[in-house]
Amino acid sequence: MKIEFVAHGADEMRAFGARLARALLATPAADPLLVTLSGELGAGKTTLVGGFLAELGHVGPVRSPTYTLLEPYRLQGRDITHCDLYRMRHPDELDDLGFRDLRGAGSVLLVEWPERAEGRLGAADLALKLDYAGPDARALAAEACSRAGQAALERL
Ligand SMILES: Nc1ncnc2c1ncn2[C@@H]1O[C@H](COP(=O)(O)OP(=O)(O)OP(=O)(O)O)[C@@H](O)[C@H]1O
Ligand SMILES: [Mg+2]
Repeated sequence: MKIEFVAHGADEMRAFGARLARALLATPAADPLLVTLSGELGAGKTTLVGGFLAELGHVGPVRSPTYTLLEPYRLQGRDITHCDLYRMRHPDELDDLGFRDLRGAGSVLLVEWPERAEGRLGAADLALKLDYAGPDARALAAEACSRAGQAALERL
């Protein structure tokens, strides 16, 4: 299942992130979830994640963890981790990040620049693709790649 949508402005992108958070967390904590966000620099990946985290109660700005590569959050009793792999030089660096510890039941891993991991992240539940659609809009495609991802898209 795949849905497509155009977000006009950053607020609509944040609103989509918020909807996604509600849809993904509507079920009791189960298997860890992986959401990948692909798209060029400035496509709006962090903006979407900001809306996602705010919906779960995070207060304050959300920036791409460009240098630390990951930023862990504990929201609504769940481990939510925001990764930005843009500056990762080699997929082996994933082993040092320690995010395996953040992949327990009910956890959600949101990854910008998943391509840098060269397949080492495992299969995504939801693969999001963001593209420029003019100066003030972004096209968004969300593809479900697992039953959990499919269920989330159906609830959006
Ligand atoms: N739907 C949208 N329409 C117009 N502008 C948007 C939209 N979504 C985000 N933006 C704006 O695009 C800019 C870049 O957004 P953002 O930092 O989220 O991109 P990114 O994909 O995370 O980039 P990077 O790869 O550098 O981490 C910000 O100024 C943001 O406000
Ligand atoms: Mg970013």
